[in-house]
Amino acid sequence: MITTINQLRFKMRNSWFARFSILCLVAFGISLAGGGVGMYAGATSANPREPLAPLHSAGVLDPSKVSLGSALFSDPILSSKNKLSCVSCHDLSTGGTINMTRTVGYNGRMHRFNAPTIFNVGNNYRLGWRGDFTSLEDQNERVLLDENLMAATWPMLLARLRANQVYSSAFQRIYGHQVERGDLLDALATFQRSLTTPNSAFDKYLGGETHALTTNELNGYRLFKDFGCASCHQGSNIGGNMFQKFGIFSGPPAANAENDGDLGRFTLTGKEADKGVFRVPSLRNVAVTAPYFHDGRVSTLAEAVSIMARSQLGRTLTPNDTESLVAFLNTLTGEYNGQKLKAAPTASHN
Ligand code: HEC
Ligand code: HEC
Repeated sequence: MITTINQLRFKMRNSWFARFSILCLVAFGISLAGGGVGMYAGATSANPREPLAPLHSAGVLDPSKVSLGSALFSDPILSSKNKLSCVSCHDLSTGGTINMTRTVGYNGRMHRFNAPTIFNVGNNYRLGWRGDFTSLEDQNERVLLDENLMAATWPMLLARLRANQVYSSAFQRIYGHQVERGDLLDALATFQRSLTTPNSAFDKYLGGETHALTTNELNGYRLFKDFGCASCHQGSNIGGNMFQKFGIFSGPPAANAENDGDLGRFTLTGKEADKGVFRVPSLRNVAVTAPYFHDGRVSTLAEAVSIMARSQLGRTLTPNDTESLVAFLNTLTGEYNGQKLKAAPTASHN
């Protein structure tokens, strides 16, 4: 027995995953704690033989809420000093994040974490690197009130939005009354749910276009499944639906004095077994969301892939395997507003 994987307990709905997990137990001697493998409801694959599923569409969203939320998402009116907006760290013209190891908020204080992409966020079943939140509304409220992020208060936000003619009439029209807390959160969340990135080469392949992937990319996909990457990065978002330890074969990363981020879920639960446990991130658009990991410790996908193989699977990759896996990950880049997402240049918003 090598270690214990700590996972969420949700209903098992994916028979492929069940078979794969058993394979993992046998092959890697991994024990699944606390009542078995957990997956979130809804993370099933369209094809039961595939661990990865096509991108879930956003479904039907009220277009007037989407456009109101879109305006708010890029408006510094939501930050107390009129300085930061959501796009300061979740840049929609690139990969939905910025190229910074860990973002910096007010007072120049560095955050615990690297900013995850905002694209396809509606398909993540938990939010944040530690999986603190189950709803976009709860997470967004925390961002708005966090003194190192938007540093706002509800009385301040509501007074500003009610005094702004454009916003006050838009809220009145859409929600039928003057803007309240729940309306702002609803407009923001509805917009974020609209941020899906369809038409990746991989989705075309899953949709039946067998030539959408090159031989090398297909080889990478095969390795992704055969090596066991897909046991953690799976479902429609290719991640985003379970908790796992970072460093199964190498021990949890040590926390340093000024950043408890590395302790992962332990900071929330205080349970020893949660040290170094993080939400498995989505790998959709991962080729354009560098730097990687919760603290942005590496800047290239090749490094991230070799660390994963070593720390999560106890495997040293050949250069060819790494190259094929990276080629596969590159096929996960989708489109926003009809444009293929591209990587952000090195950014600084402060
Ligand atoms: C100064 C940088 C910064 C700004 C501004 C910012 N964020 Fe973030 N955002 C982050 C960081 C860092 C995280 C990761 C936090 C964590 O994991 O605990 C994050 C995480 C998120 C997540 C969770 C994504 C996921 O998949 O887990 C959502 C949703 C989100 N932010 C929405 C927003 C919204 C909405 C706004 C504006 C109201 C906003 N953010 C403004 C840096 C920022
Ligand atoms: C046992 C579960 C597990 C396995 C197996 C696994 N991963 Fe991960 N992966 C994670 C977790 C957890 C993280 C987040 C680590 C962190 O930063 O805290 C992650 C992060 C990543 C990232 C960085 C994503 C980002 O946005 O920062 C990449 C890329 C990645 N994994 C690729 C792979 C590949 C390729 C494989 C197979 C070689 C693999 N993973 C196998 C759990 C796993």
